Amino acid sequence: MSTRNTIILAAGKGTRMKSKLYKVLHKVCGRSMVDHVLTQVEKTNMNRIVTVVGYGAEKVEETLHDRTEYVLQKEQLGTGHAVLQTEPLLKDQDGTTLVVSGDTPLFQAQTFENLFKYHEAKKAMATVLTSKAPDPTGYGRIVRNDVGIVEKIVEQKDASEKEQEIDEINTGVYVFDNKALFAALHEIKNDNAQGEYYLTDVIEILKNQGDIVAAYRMNSFEESMGVNDRVALSKATKVMQRRINETHMRNGVTLINPEDTYIDVDVKIGSDTIVEPGVLLKGKTVIGDDCLIGAHSEIHDSTIHNNVTVTSSYIEDSEMDEGSNIGPMSHLRPESKIGQKVHLGNFVEVKKATIEEGTKVGHLTYVGNAHLGKRINVGCGVVFVNYDGAHKHDTTVGDDAFIGSNSNLVAPLTVADHSFIAAGSTITDEVGQYDMAIARARQTNKTGYFKKLPYDPENE
Ligand code: UD1
Ligand code: CA
Repeated sequence: MSTRNTIILAAGKGTRMKSKLYKVLHKVCGRSMVDHVLTQVEKTNMNRIVTVVGYGAEKVEETLHDRTEYVLQKEQLGTGHAVLQTEPLLKDQDGTTLVVSGDTPLFQAQTFENLFKYHEAKKAMATVLTSKAPDPTGYGRIVRNDVGIVEKIVEQKDASEKEQEIDEINTGVYVFDNKALFAALHEIKNDNAQGEYYLTDVIEILKNQGDIVAAYRMNSFEESMGVNDRVALSKATKVMQRRINETHMRNGVTLINPEDTYIDVDVKIGSDTIVEPGVLLKGKTVIGDDCLIGAHSEIHDSTIHNNVTVTSSYIEDSEMDEGSNIGPMSHLRPESKIGQKVHLGNFVEVKKATIEEGTKVGHLTYVGNAHLGKRINVGCGVVFVNYDGAHKHDTTVGDDAFIGSNSNLVAPLTVADHSFIAAGSTITDEVGQYDMAIARARQTNKTGYFKKLPYDPENE
């Protein structure tokens, strides 16, 4: 039976990245490069996907899980050697094999499909995917003969001056007749500038033995960009970001300045939401319809329901329900659940707390390890004192309670519904329903004492 396989090359260290992190694990818009490649491959119809791992093998496997099979390339002797490692798994199959690199994150599934079609139409044994580079430096060059037929691929370091002028580059993506590929891989040598076994040499080998070898030139160089260093990483990120942002805008999201809006690939945004400049939306964040995400807000792995306003705030692993708002300059730390129409004003920090519908926490307040009911009014400068130096404790506040400004609620503590805490109180004991708690020293006024003080405003 004829099968379609993919081999993803991801064993290299990525020396040029100058990084502790293995190259293919560097992220572009929130997803590692090799994951981007695999995600696109998964959209095409493949029987088997095999990833060649080496440097950071465990980390790559942790990232891609069982979405692919793996083979280990113990020593990184070149791209040809890397592909050869899949021989025990694939060599007996009739069919076609797509080879892609883990460091070309911008390819789209449709391009792979187009390559397959071209390959089939040409009845080729091998078809290389090429593009025209504005600056081909660093890429393998496609050498064609007088009538335009591909003869070979020459690497930058092995290219003559004349060959270096060629601007058609090898994108590192190929389709091969599976059996012809493994037969040819045994023929390649490492007598080149880098002393490596180049996959690119398979083209010349097949050509010389009389097989049909084709080159399919795609229109977009951008999509074929390979990432070998951080400069290319930033360029690829820009391209990916533009793609993501344009998709959101086409889906009905307003981005005031898409050039300065950073949205990870898995983020979802509803229609008529407005995203202002300098915003970062990360991870698995989901934003509903009709929201306003104000300038310089940052939201990680959070769910924001419809009609929410976030003004210059930082939100992590949290949820904001419909019609709620936050900011400016507030912070939702992990596990905060903000109910409908809750108002969180400026300089409010919430951690691991649930705040129910209609409650207001307007200013300069810390709410940690707490459960707040509905329609509560939390005054300015309230502190939920949740930490005794060793343990975190919980506070519960019932519906319709009023917490006066500058109060400390020392946990563990229960404040019943319909209770009132006077401003400036340090509350350590339970407050019952309909109680008013006041816990502060009484005021004393000393009549005429002003005149005894050294303070003299007229002499200031
Ligand atoms: C390669 C191509 C070059 C092409 C470019 C496109 C070769 C010899 N050169 O060059 O013609 O223009 O890609 O981006 O193929 N890898 C392994 N094992 C190894 C060596 C590499 O798995 O022993 C993996 C790397 O992790 C990487 C991919 O293969 O994902 C490509 O290797 P890299 O060193 O980046 O090749 P380039 O120099 O970019
Ligand atoms: Ca590369």
